[in-house]
Amino acid sequence: MTGIKIIPLMAKIGAEVAGLDLRDTMSDAQSEIVRNALANYGVIYLRGHKLEPKKQVSFTRVFGEPAINHNAKKFGINGSPEIYRISNIVENGKPIGTAKAGTEWHSDMCYAMRPAKATMLHARKVPQLNGFALGDTSFANTAAAWDALPITLKEKISNLRVIYDFTRRKRGAKPSKAAIQQYPPVSHPLVRSHPITGRKSLYVSGESAGIEGKSEEAGRIIIEALASHIVHPAFVYRHSWRQGDVVVWDNCTCQHKAEVDYDLPLERLMWRTTVKGSVPK
Ligand code: SIN
Repeated sequence: MTGIKIIPLMAKIGAEVAGLDLRDTMSDAQSEIVRNALANYGVIYLRGHKLEPKKQVSFTRVFGEPAINHNAKKFGINGSPEIYRISNIVENGKPIGTAKAGTEWHSDMCYAMRPAKATMLHARKVPQLNGFALGDTSFANTAAAWDALPITLKEKISNLRVIYDFTRRKRGAKPSKAAIQQYPPVSHPLVRSHPITGRKSLYVSGESAGIEGKSEEAGRIIIEALASHIVHPAFVYRHSWRQGDVVVWDNCTCQHKAEVDYDLPLERLMWRTTVKGSVPK
């Protein structure tokens, strides 16, 4: 008996994973169930945890090898560089994390040759106004979006490749020279297959820089049409955070976007880890 209960949220995306105490060491059978839940539902969440940094890193290992983010130098946690802070909190005049990270729909590290396989956020502080949580994160299922396309369109786009350029991301802060050097432009298949389930999904977003072999204008038309199709409400789950939540998402099966509807003095703090991925195929 693993004691785990998987509670699907909607037909297309998301599931709650209940019955696990993340302070305990997970058995192989439990790890397998949780990994499969992530592969099948795209986003999973666990409520009511307060993880020590080392425990978050070991839960991250259930999904693969943790990566060290280029932001960790500035916003990492002492002793656990795999975790970096996403936060609007300012201490002694200095930000403790990246504020307003990921406010456009995107898939994590799509600009890298090997983009992140999965991402985990652990909610340490959730902004509240009149008893309502703010700072939700929305998730769109890119596999369901692919399934819903007409067959003729699928045939036209299935061999295209999308160009990603780190310097053209829509972000508040300018990228550092070191990060620009680390991430030269790359291209990935527009339609990729999930490494575990084999399910196909669309891998393109408003942050994509172009389509290989197409003019700037023709590429933009394809990118914008597909990017807005992916985030149709039928494919979207919006997570309303509670302090202690641990949410994990699969960067092949979904895109996400932070909803920034709060500001100081309302504070938000997330501990973020990512899992190393392979070259998309
Ligand atoms: C991210 O894009 O990794 C951050 C999402 C969030 O803060 O809700």
